[in-house]
Amino acid sequence: MNYLAVLGRQKNISLAELESLFDKVTPLSPKLATFSLTKISPVNKAGEPDINRLGGSLKLAKEISDPLKYIIDDIKSKGYSGKIVIGISDYSKKASARNSQKIALTLKSKLRKTEVIPGKIPSVRILSNKNAELSSATVYHNSLCSKSGHYEIIHFDKKWFVGIGVQNINAYTARDQARPARDAKVGMLPPKLAQILINLCSPLPAGTTILDPFCGTGVVLQEAYLMGYKPYGTDLSDRMVEYSKRNMEWFTDEKGAFLLSQGDATDFTWQQPIGAVACEGYLGPPMSLSPADIKMKSAMQECKAIIIGFFKNIHPQIKSDTSIAMAIPAWLRPDGHYQRMNILDEIEKLGYNVIKYKNASQRDLLYYREGQVVAREIIVLRKK
Ligand SMILES: C[S@@+](CC[C@H](N)C(=O)[O-])C[C@H]1O[C@@H](n2cnc3c(N)ncnc32)[C@H](O)[C@@H]1O
Repeated sequence: MNYLAVLGRQKNISLAELESLFDKVTPLSPKLATFSLTKISPVNKAGEPDINRLGGSLKLAKEISDPLKYIIDDIKSKGYSGKIVIGISDYSKKASARNSQKIALTLKSKLRKTEVIPGKIPSVRILSNKNAELSSATVYHNSLCSKSGHYEIIHFDKKWFVGIGVQNINAYTARDQARPARDAKVGMLPPKLAQILINLCSPLPAGTTILDPFCGTGVVLQEAYLMGYKPYGTDLSDRMVEYSKRNMEWFTDEKGAFLLSQGDATDFTWQQPIGAVACEGYLGPPMSLSPADIKMKSAMQECKAIIIGFFKNIHPQIKSDTSIAMAIPAWLRPDGHYQRMNILDEIEKLGYNVIKYKNASQRDLLYYREGQVVAREIIVLRKK
């Protein structure tokens, strides 16, 4: 089966995530990539790739030969007799809202001429297109990927796909903003990026212990738990460990669901086993303006000492092939480019290999919002 992902804002990071989990990842356009499953890809109950396990994809779909035939077969196989709801997203180069609407109207009129629902003319509602593509919010709020008889049909050049999953925006917001312990100073890792960091450590059998040695308020821990792993967090600051504890207890009352401890990542001895490490390292002091050279150098030195110290310390404590995915800082320079730490060579010399991706270079692995002063560069290494 050929699957399709609509990539998130940071498309190269989304591609790297897909490569870590799936096979034959092939970009189709700046927004789309196709892929296929491997034996160990994370799937849902239907045996299909699970959007809720991905941080970097907005929508998932599967290839179909013909939308009309697909809808008729699906409705018949489910014995569905209610209203049919259809939305069209066209990602082709020459797509337009008008054309998407035309595709929808043609599909509606063809469906109404069929006997798909025995004994009656089917009632078909089509969603109106403000743009050629429906936003993931529209697809989500109209349950196009979750309710029987509801479809998002995706068109790209001569190919057709049907939506099988869309990012649950409400769930992300709820677990990001409703957490009891928050700290503006440490900055909150977006849950989506936490998921990406964990996925970049794949393959990870269910129940693997995921260590975050800079756990802060515990976003990685929470996402690791949701993804079926055992979260283990440590942090230099007692206050942060307490925050993580409160947040995890708010999240689950399952006994022994997570491990937490205070510890300096540059000299701590962690409990075994450590299956993988996913974390956002120390990012230096918060900054709202592009820093002067001297301030940037001092932040960089401070962060570097902690990151290198951590890689040295953990090396003898993890097995060969253990993955470490880490977000490290990069600072916006006055010229609009990001100043990176450039520490990968140094980390490699400590006994690690940098993971390389087919569809994304290291330069592409930068996560930021427009104008954000401290961006996050993603680095992924495996112990030699
Ligand atoms: C950018 S924050 C991580 C935020 C976290 N991802 C979250 O979602 O809240 C970095 C964390 O590293 C911790 N930290 C700084 N130096 C450390 C060290 N040497 N060892 C362990 N933790 C350290 C800080 O206390 C802070 O909580």
